[in-house]
Amino acid sequence: MRVMVLGGAGFIGSAFVRELNKRGIKPIVYDLLTYAGRLESLKDTDYEFVKGDIRDEKLHETIAKCMPEVVVNFAAETHVDRSIYSPKDFLTTNILGTVNVLEASRRHNFKYVHISTDEVYGEECADENSPLNPSSPYSAAKASADLFVKAYVRTYGAKAIIVRPSNNYGPRQFPEKLIPKIIIRTMLGLHAPVYGDGKAERDWIFVEDTARIIYDVLERANWGGEVYNIPGGQRYSVLDVIKTVGEVMGKDVKVKFVSDRPGHDRRYCMTTRLKYEVTPFKEGIRKTVDWYVKNKWWWEPLINDKFFVEDEPWSKGGVNT
Ligand SMILES: NC(=O)c1ccc[n+]([C@@H]2O[C@H](COP(=O)([O-])OP(=O)(O)OC[C@H]3O[C@@H](n4cnc5c(N)ncnc54)[C@H](O)[C@@H]3O)[C@@H](O)[C@H]2O)c1
Repeated sequence: MRVMVLGGAGFIGSAFVRELNKRGIKPIVYDLLTYAGRLESLKDTDYEFVKGDIRDEKLHETIAKCMPEVVVNFAAETHVDRSIYSPKDFLTTNILGTVNVLEASRRHNFKYVHISTDEVYGEECADENSPLNPSSPYSAAKASADLFVKAYVRTYGAKAIIVRPSNNYGPRQFPEKLIPKIIIRTMLGLHAPVYGDGKAERDWIFVEDTARIIYDVLERANWGGEVYNIPGGQRYSVLDVIKTVGEVMGKDVKVKFVSDRPGHDRRYCMTTRLKYEVTPFKEGIRKTVDWYVKNKWWWEPLINDKFFVEDEPWSKGGVNT
């Protein structure tokens, strides 16, 4: 199978490239290498690389040249805090970029796997048919893109599916995100900033499980716009996560409560019609801590980023003062 992975130099995309390699597939990775995309994340994997933007004509040229059978799209702006601070790239990449990929599917007839998120459902427990009710600029852009996928299936007969994983954690996640941030800051002797009361719940899934499940889904898909939820089925609050990370690291994680994220969803909660096993949360955290401890070379150049350093980056940008 000839597979093209958009955003393959990011967190989940690079795990998916590893999953493809395990199955004997050498994909084409197309990635803009934004602050979140790094070829270091593809170390020791087998892939062809094209640097490019999913919003550009170059995407069409690359697809015309490579003629993939399947295109899997992980390319997105993904950090909710950044979307609050500065929403524009979220609109252009997550919505217009997706529409550009869908346009390419009209010309080249590949099968399209669109990676969405549980955040499109908002706080209510959701199955695959639940209404979309996004809260942040990030999730609003993701929900819009999902609607375009459905529209292209209905209007132009695009062959596509939508996959909605819950919160992923694991190796190679950019340190602005909760779990790597807590691990690295604890290693550095710094406090963990916690929004609001720390009781916001997320449903956690280990990234290697997500990559495997996405592959299993695409092998069985009917390509008629179906939605597949991928929850981890392990719901923990931010304070629970901090406790587990502290236990695994054998350290007392210092917590500092800071003002809540604007529009912060209290929880996400999905069911799925798929059947699969996942890594138990504590075991996944152990693997994740172990990876960050052994791979300082990967994260050390990244820790001056303001979303790693500051407690409430949006308020300092004047957005919520
Ligand atoms: N991380 C999670 O917990 C999670 C949960 C559910 C869904 N998702 C979704 O999964 C996908 C991947 O998330 P992630 O956490 O791996 O993200 P990430 O931020 O780690 O990686 C995103 C990748 O996309 C690339 N990219 C960004 N804009 C681009 C553009 N315009 N053109 C080409 N490449 C571009 C970046 O360089 C990077 O390699 C996203 O669609 C995200 O919404 C993530």
